[in-house]
Amino acid sequence: AEIIVVPTPADAGRLAGAAIADLIARRPDAVLGVATGSTPLPVYDDLQHRLAGVDVSRVRAFALDEYVGIDRDHAESYHSIIHHQVTVPLGLDPDLVQVPDGQADDLERAALDYDAAIRASGGIDLQLLGIGSDGHIGFNEPGSSFASRTRVKTLTPQTRQDNARFFPSVDDVPLHALTQGLGTILEARHLVLLAFGEAKAEAVALALEGPLTARVPATAIHLHPHCTVIVDEVAAAHLA
Ligand code: F6R
Repeated sequence: AEIIVVPTPADAGRLAGAAIADLIARRPDAVLGVATGSTPLPVYDDLQHRLAGVDVSRVRAFALDEYVGIDRDHAESYHSIIHHQVTVPLGLDPDLVQVPDGQADDLERAALDYDAAIRASGGIDLQLLGIGSDGHIGFNEPGSSFASRTRVKTLTPQTRQDNARFFPSVDDVPLHALTQGLGTILEARHLVLLAFGEAKAEAVALALEGPLTARVPATAIHLHPHCTVIVDEVAAAHLA
């Protein structure tokens, strides 16, 4: 992976934003892989300005994951978050933005359909990724197979604790999520992994310098020929 250390998350947002805007200029029907959580927010901020006046009517997007067990219209569902933080501010066509269906009666079917929809789009051109403090990407928690496809995963206590800030209490954080698998993520043509802050420093060091292991799912990025990692100085602090 190419590792870029920048002073602040805003600097990372500008780099990733420029890469996405260049992609859309080259390919007006680009397929973006979008993430939720705090990490990608500086990218979406940057893009909102960079894409003003650009025709994005043909840009498509796929989210990484969705909670299972909360309503799609819940304010913290990734369906809602992607709509409010990506689709609306960037001016994307809501019909071209997809989030896994965590509400489906048949989650196995929904998972297969999601992978099929990504494949039918021609595949994701650029996948934005954050990293969990436990080393997850998407919601591929430790132990996830590098060959995994979209499926239901059980969130670790650590992930639920990390995401408790978005809910009244940790007990309200869903127990499960429908997530793109590591194998699904690895099919994107370019991975851009971002990490900011002290809470990510250990996971970043393990992901970038530790041995390839399912115990640190983010080490899967080393199986990808084109991965850019952009971290702020604090998140880079444990790198050799
Ligand atoms: C989000 C996702 C997760 C987050 C990770 C970091 O769609 O799949 O892997 O990227 O949990 O979350 P934040 O950015 O909130 O620290």
